[in-house]
Amino acid sequence: MSRKRILTGDRPTGPLHLGHYVGSVANRARLQDEFETFVIIADAQALTTNFDRPERLAEDVLNVAMDNLACGVDPQKSVLFVQSLVPAIAELTVFYANLVTVNQLFHNPTIKTEAAQHNFEESMPFGFLGYPVSQAADITFCRANLVPVGEDQLPHIEMTRKIVRKFNSLYAPVLVEPEARVSEVSRLPGLDGGAKMSKSLGNAIYLSDPPDVVKQKVARAVTDPARIHPTDKGHPEICTVFAWHRAFNRAESDDIGERCRAGTIGCVPCKARLVAVLNEFLEPIRARRAGYEQDPDLVRDILSTGTARARHEGDRTMALVRAAMKIDYFPPPAPAATAGN
Ligand code: TRP
Ligand code: SF4
Repeated sequence: MSRKRILTGDRPTGPLHLGHYVGSVANRARLQDEFETFVIIADAQALTTNFDRPERLAEDVLNVAMDNLACGVDPQKSVLFVQSLVPAIAELTVFYANLVTVNQLFHNPTIKTEAAQHNFEESMPFGFLGYPVSQAADITFCRANLVPVGEDQLPHIEMTRKIVRKFNSLYAPVLVEPEARVSEVSRLPGLDGGAKMSKSLGNAIYLSDPPDVVKQKVARAVTDPARIHPTDKGHPEICTVFAWHRAFNRAESDDIGERCRAGTIGCVPCKARLVAVLNEFLEPIRARRAGYEQDPDLVRDILSTGTARARHEGDRTMALVRAAMKIDYFPPPAPAATAGN
């Protein structure tokens, strides 16, 4: 029996931040012993909002690879690969595009939120609107069973499942219907109090941020606006800093919440404690990352080995898909009868 498969990953639009970590990177590093894990660096998806800046991708692909490795994604256990170098993903996208309506895409809540952030007005790229279709190809090209993601990705997994069901019932049941696995802490609010950390909003702490930058960013974080004096009674449930204590300082967080409510801890020491906890957590990640930064050729080797493996899986899936669709016009000749060997 072969192990079940995971496919997950990120867009390379800059280094990864702590939102990526709690939403999915931690989960993938934890699950790689149990599942055969594929980690996609979705460079073509990054282009759907950054097509005018392709020159950044080379560096960002490498950054995201190093972030994954630094967080414990082990190239001996996981396949770390680059999306645009796996032809099966582009090919599946073309076929899947017929199984989805533009209305379904326009109603996808994550597309709606991101479209609003990008302010496309009348010029939304077709590639942006359609990226969930390409994401269905990301997930299915390796016949993944499980997709560990943050909550915001659930509409895309739902769309993938619909596409798979439609494909399997229309043609032949060769695709695997994946399941989402949302991590316990799936959403970390931005430091500005916004719903989500995001690179474009500039409210994130990066895995690669040095200690003093972490300190400055936490110092600026939005807390309960009702607290002016340290003895004012607070509302931790609406405080960004508290949400972060919950995610990274679980053991002390109940106590901190009570003291905030009672007005016996001020925001300044509360933040100082968070800075200490975050820096302690980030220290080993920074150290491992520094090792890879010294040796970018090693990172490129890991990526090219992983990508070759992904291409191989993609070719296998495409053979099944073409046969199911009856478009395998030139099937390989049946092996010749063996004579003598
Ligand atoms: N859309 C994901 C994000 O923005 C990245 C991604 C691309 C992904 N392809 C994927 C995630 C496949 C899970 C599975 O973070
Ligand atoms: Fe937030 Fe801590 Fe201040 Fe309470 S004491 S409002 S949890 S920063």
